[in-house]
This record gives sequence, structure tokens and C-alpha cells, in this order.
Amino acid sequence: METPKGENMNVDSGQSEKQREITMMLLEDGRGEFPDLHTLELPPELLRLYGTGLEFVRSPEGMTVPLTFVNFVVSKEGIYNLKDRPGGGAISGGNRADAFGMAIFRAAADAVMVGSGTVNGEPKHLWNLDFIFDKFPQMQGLEELRAAFHRFRKGLAKKDKNPPTFFMTNSGDVNLDAVVFHDETTSTYIVTGAQGAENLARKYPDLASRRPKVLVYGMETLDEPAMMTDLRGRFNIKHLLHEGGPRVVNALMQKGLVHQFFLTQMKQSPAGNLSPENAQYLFSTQDHTIPPEAKIVTTRRDATGNATLYNLDFRAVKQL
Ligand SMILES: NC(=O)c1ccc[n+]([C@@H]2O[C@H](COP(=O)([O-])OP(=O)(O)OC[C@H]3O[C@@H](n4cnc5c(N)ncnc54)[C@H](OP(=O)(O)O)[C@@H]3O)[C@@H](O)[C@H]2O)c1
Repeated sequence: METPKGENMNVDSGQSEKQREITMMLLEDGRGEFPDLHTLELPPELLRLYGTGLEFVRSPEGMTVPLTFVNFVVSKEGIYNLKDRPGGGAISGGNRADAFGMAIFRAAADAVMVGSGTVNGEPKHLWNLDFIFDKFPQMQGLEELRAAFHRFRKGLAKKDKNPPTFFMTNSGDVNLDAVVFHDETTSTYIVTGAQGAENLARKYPDLASRRPKVLVYGMETLDEPAMMTDLRGRFNIKHLLHEGGPRVVNALMQKGLVHQFFLTQMKQSPAGNLSPENAQYLFSTQDHTIPPEAKIVTTRRDATGNATLYNLDFRAVKQL
């Protein structure tokens, strides 16, 4: 008897159904307005779900700093964090397309960066691909997809299986007991000014024998332009993924160091306590909407209709 042929032949029905939910449709296409668009081609198994290659507003070649792209998920009303349930999971409600987007960005990144508030708020998080497939309930069992992402990253000739992860701090108040600082598969760096490095060394007298390396740029506070120039020049980081939070992203934006913003906006409100003391909003604009200086490259929606994914040119935005 002949075996039925089909692209999902090796994918059990549970995996295909979960993947079907991720499938995104292009709602708005502004790509024609970006003459410098630089497209990272996706392999067929990822392209089928994302719909196009991964489009960056320009090529990092010729730049003296990394091309920095930010990824955030917000609720319908623009909430990015609940203080009593920190992290994007409470906001996305376990949406698969949002997690898939995170995986594309991590796979394509030479390095990932977050602020001290983010690692201190989520001390069990690892900013890599496997964490998404190991720990996010909605991604459990999607092993073909996990393998496809690893093949994609390998094909991009990234040096490391997991992107090195950088943590921004001014005061040096970073919780070095967080899991990421003990993970042997990830190189970690604390980026700070001389004052922050001194405070950190005072708090952790055994700092020199711990895994994270401390990189000092500036005296009182972190000198962000010097940091970015060094990350590009010395570490050869061309594509830098920034996963927040808003305070550090704002600091970088004010210095023109953020180029692009990938935003997932959910159709629903997060479950739980949305009081002003607990719910934190991403955008300070009226009604917490995307800043008017941002330009839309693409807008897409997932097959569940619950997530809208924006690819935004943020070069003219100076404040979230
Ligand atoms: N929904 C999402 O997609 C998403 C994304 C990211 C984060 N989050 C959540 O958001 C929360 C964190 O947000 P956040 O705004 O508090 O944190 P954050 O931006 O990650 O960190 C803020 C801290 O960074 C340090 N900092 C500020 N400006 C700096 C600069 N220019 N250079 C170096 N360090 C600087 C300051 O602390 P020190 O100087 O004392 O270190 C500041 O308190 C977490 O709960 C996280 O889970 C959600």
C-alpha cells in the first residue's frame, strides 16, 4: 500500500494543530516604503508559519553599533507587566504565535540584552531558544519546530548555540542567584558604569570567580553609546535583540540606539488584578498606543485571531 504523501507526514496531529494556530496572515504591508530593507530568509518550515522572511529596517553592515531590535508583548490596553505576576506569560495568556515570534528573534540574534529589572523580576528565565520549548506550556511537544529553529540558527553561522546575554544596570543591583548566571550553556555579561561595578563587587565578594563577566563603560552610570560601539567592534554583534524592560529601552532610544520594535498586541486583557498599582503600561502616549513616530513595516495576525504582530521602524521614536 502506498504511504500518503504530505508535508505533515512526520508531524503528529497534535503538533500540526498547534502549528496551525501559529500561522500568520499579513494584514498590512508597508515594506515597499523601506528602500533599505534587509531580509533574513527563513527556512520553509518557519516561512510557512511566519509568511515572509524576517525583515530588518536596514542592514547592520556599515553600522558601528549593532542593529538593535526590541521585542515586547502587551495586552489589549497596552499593559506589559503585572507586578504580582511578572513576565510576558501573564500578558500573552500562553499565545503560541507570540512565543514563535520570540523564537525567531532569539534564533536570529547575535546576542540578547535585558535590564536588571527584568532579570530580577524573572530570575528563572533563560533568554534562549530551548527555554521557550522547555518551559512555555503552549510550546511543549513542538519538537519539529524546536529542531527547525536550531537548524535555522546554525545556518546563520552564529558562533554560539545560545546567544550571549547582556544585563544593563546602573546601580549594580543584579541578582546573581538568577538561574541564567549559573547556566553553563550561556555566556553572560553585566554591563554597567564604574560605580555599578564597585557596588556589585561589594555585594558579591566572590564576583571574580562567578560566571558573568562585568564590562564597565562610563563612571557614575552606564555609557550606552560606548557600550554599543564596543559590542559591535569587539564582540562583532551585528543583530542585537533587546527584550526590555521599558526603562532601559527608553534610555537606549533617547540616544538613538534602538532601530526596530517587534510588538505583539493581544486581543484580550490579562487575567488578574489590573489596578494602577499592579498593572504597568508600555507606552506613555495617549491611550497607551504605539508612538506616532513609529512606521509600520508589516502587521500580521495569528490564526487564532488573538495576537497582532507589528514590525515597526522605531528610528524616529525617542520615548515609549
Ligand atoms: N511584556 C513583555 O514583553 C516584557 C518584556 C520585558 C520585561 N517585562 C517585565 O517587565 C518587568 C521589568 O521592567 P522594568 O522597566 O522594571 O525593568 P528593566 O527596564 O529591565 O530594568 C530597569 C532597571 O534597569 C536599570 N537601568 C535603568 N536605566 C538604565 C541605564 N540607562 N543603564 C543601565 N541600567 C539602567 C535600573 O536599575 P539599576 O540601575 O538599579 O540596576 C532600573 O531600575 C519585569 O517584571 C519583566 O518580566 C515584560
